[in-house]
Amino acid sequence: MELFDVLEKRHSVRAYKEKDVEEWKIKKILNAAVIAPTAANRQAFKIVVIKTKGRENELKKIYGSDWFSKAPVVIGIFSVPGKAWTKSSGKNYGDVDAAIVMDHIILSATDLGLGTCWIGAFNSDNAKKMLFPDEDAEPIAFTPIGYPADTEFKKIRKDINELVFYK
Ligand SMILES: Cc1cc2nc3c(=O)[nH]c(=O)nc-3n(C[C@H](O)[C@H](O)[C@H](O)COP(=O)(O)O)c2cc1C
Repeated sequence: MELFDVLEKRHSVRAYKEKDVEEWKIKKILNAAVIAPTAANRQAFKIVVIKTKGRENELKKIYGSDWFSKAPVVIGIFSVPGKAWTKSSGKNYGDVDAAIVMDHIILSATDLGLGTCWIGAFNSDNAKKMLFPDEDAEPIAFTPIGYPADTEFKKIRKDINELVFYK
């Protein structure tokens, strides 16, 4: 798919088919994720891949909506703040890096005909406890990945003139 078509096609998918995601697609998505740019090339992130089958109740403790754990795969991104670049103002870029990695995942999944949904409203304490309890790792975002069961979507956006400023 052309990049601009991928950008148009990506939307938040909140209904998934039971169909499994092919392993080669997951690998391709992960390879796209790890080539994401990160501040000072620190690559201070951890990607967690979870096959949801049989783990639905556990996953509900991370994010309660049924469709989240019904997708065959869930991917989470953790930043490693202690290793991420921090600028002189004190701002740590670990969460920015993790967001870029997640965008690579989401856009490459879209290109492969898969649905995703950025999840920010997950339970951070449970995610940390369940996945990396003893490490320097802060959960930043999750997404389900699977074949979309929705049929249509609408992009609701502000007018470009409200968002872009030429100065
Ligand atoms: C950082 C971030 C966090 C989000 N968190 C959630 C979430 O917790 N649950 C959810 O259903 N959607 C979540 N979304 C999806 C947004 O609601 C969605 O992207 C937005 O409404 C635009 O719709 P679209 O993705 O279909 O274009 C999140 C999106 C972003 C970028």
